[in-house]
Amino acid sequence: MSNMESQAQQASIHHGKILVVDDNRMNRIKLAHMLEEQGHIVALAADGHEALTLLHDQRPEPQIDVVLLDLLMPGMDGFQVLQQIKSDLALRDLVVIVISALDEMESIVRCIELGAEDFLPKPFEPVILRARLKASLERKKLRDLERTYLQQEMMLRQSEKLATLGRLSAGVAHELNNPAAAAQRSAGALADELARMQAAQRRLTVRGLTAAQEAELERLAAQIAQRVAEPVILDSLTRMDHEEAVEAWIGKHRLENGWEFAADLVAMGIDPSALDSLATHFASDQLSAVIVWISTTYNLHALAREIGDTTARISEIVSALKSYTYMDQAPIQQVDIHKGLEDTLTILRHKLREGIVVERDYAPGLPKIEAYGSELNQVWTNLIDNAIAAMGDAGRLTLRTRQTDDGVLVAVEDTGHGIPAEIQGKIFDPFFTTKPPGEGTGLGLNISHSIVVQRHMGRIGVESRPGHTRFEVSLPITS
Ligand SMILES: Nc1ncnc2c1ncn2[C@@H]1O[C@H](COP(=O)(O)OP(=O)(O)OP(=O)(O)O)[C@@H](O)[C@H]1O
Ligand SMILES: [Mg+2]
Repeated sequence: MSNMESQAQQASIHHGKILVVDDNRMNRIKLAHMLEEQGHIVALAADGHEALTLLHDQRPEPQIDVVLLDLLMPGMDGFQVLQQIKSDLALRDLVVIVISALDEMESIVRCIELGAEDFLPKPFEPVILRARLKASLERKKLRDLERTYLQQEMMLRQSEKLATLGRLSAGVAHELNNPAAAAQRSAGALADELARMQAAQRRLTVRGLTAAQEAELERLAAQIAQRVAEPVILDSLTRMDHEEAVEAWIGKHRLENGWEFAADLVAMGIDPSALDSLATHFASDQLSAVIVWISTTYNLHALAREIGDTTARISEIVSALKSYTYMDQAPIQQVDIHKGLEDTLTILRHKLREGIVVERDYAPGLPKIEAYGSELNQVWTNLIDNAIAAMGDAGRLTLRTRQTDDGVLVAVEDTGHGIPAEIQGKIFDPFFTTKPPGEGTGLGLNISHSIVVQRHMGRIGVESRPGHTRFEVSLPITS
């Protein structure tokens, strides 16, 4: 409970702290006496400056509830005091009641226009004073409560935003991390391999190459590039046979460290007969350099390809993220539900453990719907995230879509532990969670509910028993 709320509830709604601002000492004393008799707490100020100083000293949260303000005062008059109060963010909610004689109607009207709540006619009548103050205090307390509520509501929305953002960035960071680290590793290995390849090349060409040898290297380079682009996968028995044969060939020709490369040579489709033909082109002291050259060339190609693949994966994730968040796009969109579900699966891929099977039962030709695309993705994220959490290491996540009479229906089903009947009524409440602290904020379903129901005029419901939980979201075609 906030400070303000407790204050508002503790103080009796008909009693407050009243500041009397009047240059006439008799008026001040008379009013103070009447107010105290009626149970209020009273503070006094003899002119505008004193009043404002007193109000400022108790910032940021004024404890004064009502200011009884005389209009005609030397120095700063009541109008100026009123204007200052109403233009000050910290003071503007104060209730100001203007003290005035009934024949000053024009002034009263002007004060009400300036933001005064009411006026108190002179001479003072206890009954009128009581009635006016009671009404004003009631209104003020209601306004305070309303403001407290709005502040809490704002804090809730803020937590929701942070929860969503946290989930999103955790997912993306995780997803980008692996390919980025792989690309970095490959780039490091590329530099090493390049140095080895250059050393082999120097050894090879130290005596110069014949035209036939150059042609043979060129042919080999082309064969290697093609093998990397279209690898031939051998079954493991065949591969082992080939490797053994190549190793035997290398042993027979006494090539230094040659057996290290047996696996690479086999992967490139080089068998003993290819080696025989290689031996006809190169002298025996050149052969080991050729073999290192072949292996490193192959590795260079493979690493370049790996870097290409991993950076492509990074681009893919970035573009899924862009489309998931509807970055650079108008908030209301013609939304493709299936694309949203798929983008969401990409964002949550790091959570999808190996034992979790994803099944899609997508209605063909499902129409696009008019919706806040990125908000709907938040809904899918929360539902899928919950489903994954409920299943532990293994289970089946099913995403279904259907066209209905006036819209579309999306269902997220899991085979997890289910939601006990006694808490099914609470799961959409803000901050309701059964997860340990740090694991769940309890906002996921609450956010999803407001997005579906308030923002899209849709419906969200759940049915659950152990081993089967189904969340169903219905959305109209146009909202
Ligand atoms: N598919 C589900 N299977 C079982 N229980 C669920 C499922 N979805 C939601 N719940 C229950 O509803 C509760 C509230 O869900 P909600 O998504 O609002 O919060 P949370 O998942 O606990 O935390 P957050 O989503 O903020 O990380 C969960 O703690 C869980 O007990
Ligand atoms: Mg959740």
